Amino acid sequence: MNEQLAGKHIVLGLSGGVACYKSAELCRLLVKAGATVQVVMTEAAAQFITPVTMQALSGRSVYTSQWDTREANNMPHINLSREADAILIAPCSADFIARLVQGRADELLSLLCLARPRDRVPLLLAPAMNREMWGHPATQRNLAQVARDGATVLGVGFGDQACGETGDGRMLEAAEILEELEAFFTPQLLTGQHVLITAGPTFEAIDPVRGITNLSSGKMGFAIARAARAAGAQVTLVAGPVHLPTPRGVRRIDVRSAQNMLAIVEEQAREATIFIATAAVADWRPATAALHKIKKDGTGDVPALEFVENPDILATVARTERARAGRLYCVGFAAESENLLEHASAKRERKGVPLLVGNIGPATFGQDDNALLLVDAQGHRELPRASKEALGHQLVAEIARRLAAV
Ligand code: CTP
Repeated sequence: MNEQLAGKHIVLGLSGGVACYKSAELCRLLVKAGATVQVVMTEAAAQFITPVTMQALSGRSVYTSQWDTREANNMPHINLSREADAILIAPCSADFIARLVQGRADELLSLLCLARPRDRVPLLLAPAMNREMWGHPATQRNLAQVARDGATVLGVGFGDQACGETGDGRMLEAAEILEELEAFFTPQLLTGQHVLITAGPTFEAIDPVRGITNLSSGKMGFAIARAARAAGAQVTLVAGPVHLPTPRGVRRIDVRSAQNMLAIVEEQAREATIFIATAAVADWRPATAALHKIKKDGTGDVPALEFVENPDILATVARTERARAGRLYCVGFAAESENLLEHASAKRERKGVPLLVGNIGPATFGQDDNALLLVDAQGHRELPRASKEALGHQLVAEIARRLAAV
């Protein structure tokens, strides 16, 4: 389930293009997110993928013609467009864009786009075409015109194309389109804000092949980054070593050690208005990292490691003039194995931040679910167990509410 898409009624329109194969996955993801999906296909789309496949995935029979006796009034273009929360055309071919520009009404999909109530049913387009077709002035002119007419044009991907050429014009991946659609339905609570987030573990080198790290997966921080971007913020994500895809529209900077992370964060914090420290920063690092791999010497002796304390990134940022003047709102995280409220409250004071988010760790590391305890000067509030994605959205709303109150 997905908070933004659950219960939404999406008309998924397919026009002709090889990218129709991605629409099958998109349909599946939309259904999984809790949306009702009504598929409408042009005749050309049915050359690339069968209505049977789309029917099976959406769980609803597919419309391919305006002459459809299933509708009592024989007006599928009216009925389908009135029921929708959004019409999403994916793939949207060059020809279909040209049809929209002309306001054509000679087949069902164009007809229902023309008949849609523009004030309440948004039209989103995920273009897909060969790079020359994409770059052609006629296509670019038409895209500008459909945007002026009120459609939202999602981007295209760059890469290998079915025709064997390489360039712009690939349809976005299904998961990327889902993310765009989700952002589209998210209240724009953080418009104008620049959110800086740390996520994942740090890695403290012992020698070139060994090091000390922890089990943080980065999932919570990445979910917050996605939610903040969906809420309209500009987002910079400083990530330790994790295996997670970069959320769409988020600027990601990869780092390894706590010292690397601090250097990048200090630089980025000059522009940020919100800092959220979710990273599980290693508290200590080996005092020196050996230049070459440490070898066993055959005596059975083990190397003695000496540690020094790492800088506290959150506390350092919270002490800056920008943060103290209220121009950078700092949020800390705390993973505790017991006495969550007590430890989180003490940590909030110690770090000097207005909001501290506690969670019970390390059981939640790497999981898709979590439960959060928000502690601020007013008291505390629980966000009960939910997916990290859903909690990311809730936390964004909580931060936005606190910022609006100052
Ligand atoms: N943090 C940080 N830099 C560090 C250590 C922690 O920025 N060197 C941040 C974390 O990102 C988190 C918060 O501080 O937002 C609390 O982290 P945690 O590890 O729970 O706290 P510690 O200060 O390390 O306290 P302790 O290990 O004693 O619980």
